Amino acid sequence: MTIFITGGAGFIGSNFVHSWFENNNEKIINLDLLTYAGNLSNLDFFKQDSRHIFIQGNIADKEIVSKVFTKFNPRAIINFAAESHVDRSIDSPEDFINTNIYGTFNLLNCTKEFLKKTNQLNKKDFRFLHVSTDEVFGSLKKTELPFTEDNNFLPNSPYSASKASSDHLVRSFNKTYDIPTIITHCSNNYGPYQFPEKLIPLVINNALKHKSLPLYGDGLNIRDWLYVKDHCSALIRVLNNGRIGETYNIGGNNEKTNREIIYIICDMLDEIRPINSKSSLSSYKNLIKYVKDRPGHDRRYAINSDKLMNELDWKPNETFLTGIKKTIDWYLSNQKWINNIEEGSYKEWISKQYCN
Ligand code: NAD
Ligand code: DAU
Repeated sequence: MTIFITGGAGFIGSNFVHSWFENNNEKIINLDLLTYAGNLSNLDFFKQDSRHIFIQGNIADKEIVSKVFTKFNPRAIINFAAESHVDRSIDSPEDFINTNIYGTFNLLNCTKEFLKKTNQLNKKDFRFLHVSTDEVFGSLKKTELPFTEDNNFLPNSPYSASKASSDHLVRSFNKTYDIPTIITHCSNNYGPYQFPEKLIPLVINNALKHKSLPLYGDGLNIRDWLYVKDHCSALIRVLNNGRIGETYNIGGNNEKTNREIIYIICDMLDEIRPINSKSSLSSYKNLIKYVKDRPGHDRRYAINSDKLMNELDWKPNETFLTGIKKTIDWYLSNQKWINNIEEGSYKEWISKQYCN
């Protein structure tokens, strides 16, 4: 048997490949365009492993996606591929429309064609698992209850609007064509292999290089953080036991302000990698710099994962403190990984941001 994943050279997708093969020998076909965010070195471990087949290509390309279906007869597809960074969607939204909306449509359409033709498997045994985000629900006020699966969609950035559009397409292909789809909405992930444009790896990397740590606005926006391996274990549960046509929220029950996040990272680094006493800095916290706010910046996300926990018996393994310690240790041991990224197109993007 084989599963087909997209975007598996990115942050969550590559962690998923690692998680999958911890307990499983089922083959993965991994289709990824290798945009700036895709990195084959995340998958170095599987270079000689015949269970993992990598194909470079665009999810919006009908020919290549159809070929993957006919050649490998997968029993499921998990769609991780996306343009994923909110700030980039504000800067230049077009790629978000092409990949997140049109690309998802193309995957759905090719799945529909494949399921019509295949005699290798029963349509109901197939799964189209679409990996989405809590950002589609918009922003919560301080006293509002965490998002449930029944919240309305109120996206505020081109990124979240493109993800919401793709979710609607997935739902429509289930209702109209009976494609066995499931959607997940996850909160903010952190962990190994995350591209250093995102808050947590950016702060770790900049702190180690004694560069400024930019806090948008008043630093009090709240996110609900989940260690990436816990997201992957939830996805495997949903793939195996989730109900067709349903959506599942995935979250860590770890609401923190951005300022708290930066303080925790600085405190840990002060302990594990103290600043040289000859430096003018007494703590990594001295590097924090309040900068202009992100336009349309969502104030708070929080996720209620009761449905997933009760129905599929899932729970996260990491608390924020254990997860962030693992993450910091990983970045400390993988400086070469991040330095290689900094040599590429990242340089151009980050030079336009606030943290130089
Ligand atoms: P990422 O940006 O790190 O990786 C995205 C991957 O998709 C990259 O490998 C990239 O090369 C690939 N890709 C982009 N466009 C493509 C295309 N047209 N065709 C094929 N491949 C393409 O993203 P991530 O953080 O790993 O997020 C993965 C998924 O999870 C996304 O759908 C995102 O919306 C969702 N999500 C992310 C988070 C988070 O905190 N990072 C939380 C919830 C949901
Ligand atoms: O909630 C899930 C979403 O989480 C995913 O769908 C997105 O793909 C993922 O990128 C993430 O979106 P955010 O916008 O929440 O993540 P980001 O790391 O960009 O920012 C986290 C918070 O930190 C946000 O409130 C903005 C703030 N921030 C970010 C950066 C990069 C700063 O204060 N300074 C920064 O330099």
